[in-house]
Amino acid sequence: MEWWLLACIALCLYLILILFLHYRTPETHIDWSTIELQDVHFPESFAWGVATASHQIEGRNTNNWSQFEDTKDLQRSGDACDHWNRWKTDFDLIENLGVNHYRFSLEWSRIESVEGVWDDSAIEQYSNMIDNLISRNIEPMVTLHHFSHPTWFEDKGGFANAENVDYWIRFSEKMYSELGDRVKWWCTINEPAVFTSMGYVLGEFPPGKRSFKLTRAVARNMMMAHARCYRALKSMPGGESAQIGLVKNINIFDPYRRWNLLHWFQAKLLDEMFNRCWIRGLETGKFRAPSSLLSSKIDGLKNSSDFIGVNYYTHLLTTPFMPTTVEIDPLIRPWETRTDFRYPMYAEGLHRSFHMVKSLNIPIYVTENGVADDDDDLRPEHIRRHLWLTSKAIEEGLDIRGFYHWSLMDNFEWAEGYTQRFGLYHVNYDTQERTLKESGKLYADYATGTVMPQVVILAGGLGTRLGELSKTIPKSLISVSGKPMLSHILEWAAGQGCRRAVILTGHLGEQFEGFKHEGMDLTFVQESEQMGTGGALLNAIDYLEDEFILLWGDDYHPVNYRRLYAAHKEHGQSLTMTVIQSDQLVNLRHENGNVVEYSKSEISDTFNGYEAGTSVVNKSVLVSFGKSKIWSWEETVYPQLSGKIHAHIDETPFWDMGTPERLERLEEFFDNRRS
Ligand code: BGC
Repeated sequence: MEWWLLACIALCLYLILILFLHYRTPETHIDWSTIELQDVHFPESFAWGVATASHQIEGRNTNNWSQFEDTKDLQRSGDACDHWNRWKTDFDLIENLGVNHYRFSLEWSRIESVEGVWDDSAIEQYSNMIDNLISRNIEPMVTLHHFSHPTWFEDKGGFANAENVDYWIRFSEKMYSELGDRVKWWCTINEPAVFTSMGYVLGEFPPGKRSFKLTRAVARNMMMAHARCYRALKSMPGGESAQIGLVKNINIFDPYRRWNLLHWFQAKLLDEMFNRCWIRGLETGKFRAPSSLLSSKIDGLKNSSDFIGVNYYTHLLTTPFMPTTVEIDPLIRPWETRTDFRYPMYAEGLHRSFHMVKSLNIPIYVTENGVADDDDDLRPEHIRRHLWLTSKAIEEGLDIRGFYHWSLMDNFEWAEGYTQRFGLYHVNYDTQERTLKESGKLYADYATGTVMPQVVILAGGLGTRLGELSKTIPKSLISVSGKPMLSHILEWAAGQGCRRAVILTGHLGEQFEGFKHEGMDLTFVQESEQMGTGGALLNAIDYLEDEFILLWGDDYHPVNYRRLYAAHKEHGQSLTMTVIQSDQLVNLRHENGNVVEYSKSEISDTFNGYEAGTSVVNKSVLVSFGKSKIWSWEETVYPQLSGKIHAHIDETPFWDMGTPERLERLEEFFDNRRS
């Protein structure tokens, strides 16, 4: 045959192959400018969550990771987020997001720091944490291995030795026996492919090796460990109803040049090693470890997951010369945005990941999705796109049951140390202060299905009982524990997901000049003369939205606004008032969920509650009761509307600065909280 004919045939075959690959594995790119991102629908039962891992947040762990940080002279995890000591207030943060699921991992090195010796106090703390979550209606999802384990286990060769798997199974059984009566959701191993490739191919994670032989052994042993763990827990009391699954990171690999067969080859190879072999393993029970040619059966592996956890972050563009260190930027498409981690934001890959695991025919949970974004300018869009695609996939009939945002708060990002911020809350690592980011507010809006209303603060009142202190300055501007009371109130409101506040400054409005609050859009409305609380509200009517949360500028009342607002929506009254029952003070009577009587001056024996100050108001109330001249909101509206005010019972302590003694107590409260 002539050479040119051969060349033509070869070229044709090449083209056919490329076209086949091209159409069989499309690299989807959505024109996001044409998408209505708010058009999402999630089932009532959808699990909304946030995720963390022990070594990344707890602080002061001694494990394979802390050892690796020392030997490689990496940034030390150190105190991390000091979560081991601050877990209760961190759970407040979860609750404030309105999510109802939380995924976290148990730190094996705390529980069995010495081989064979259980640390009962550590187990007790985890047990208390679980009780606490449940008391808040937050469903715990526990991960048994999230990259970290005790140093004695590592010294024995970790997962590289098949016999060592027994130790981890023993630990898992112990944990299940302690917590299984309350924890329904269990993740066995987090991202075995990441653990093996980072620890044994790239050497970026402990034990920092580069060996295909070890990689194969670790991969196989981890799959075996997962299968054994699943079977072991399932056979324990209550095991049948536990939901146990593997968490798989899906990395999408796309050829950099779609006409280049070598790029395709690389993409397919990596896809096989990183994704497919693991998923196929779960499906068939036979596992071909990355870089090995043969597959072999693993006992109990087939159908060893009640759900599949999908962790999704990005896609990688492949060439035979891809960088294997994080110092070199990965390739991206020209229209893509780089995240702080240098890989691109590629939400379309989440949808492709769902399709990759759907053959397993089990419920899918997004157990991690998030982005490293220091200034939080990309994360809101990241959340919107990924949730939009999740919603679309549900509409297409994929069985996706939940979404856990990675992460609750900024934390120790493994080999990257503290340089990558993934949190919905910003963490100041010097002070351990947490601040809700705009993206956190957005995620909470999705999770709760509500956008937080405007906050209106009656901030002009002078402190008649505070002596010299506030004859001339409004109480809300008096400094308490280092900052004005108003800043404390706004901080709470912002942390509850509010974005806008109208501040009614009274007639001393000039004193508020230059006042700002990070994360809050402030509008100040001044009165020309004294108008009373009602008059002040009416005076600001043009700035008020149809619904608003009404606060008093001298009260600090850290209640959960999302719960309050949900109650307002549910009961459909035009005014919802927070009522405390356990306070010694009373000023109202409530029955069957309604405030039926209110009086500030004539306290009756039948009174059984106290108006705590935080309420949700429909503007229509103001329109119907408003009058000219000076008038008091509470003394006019509450008595007249009695019977039609929803009483939202919330016993969260309430703080005010009405008298010097109360102010002192409030100061103490803020100071203690800080330490
Ligand atoms: C891991 C997390 C990590 C996140 C962001 C996931 O692969 O499970 O521990 O922080 O990626 O890189």
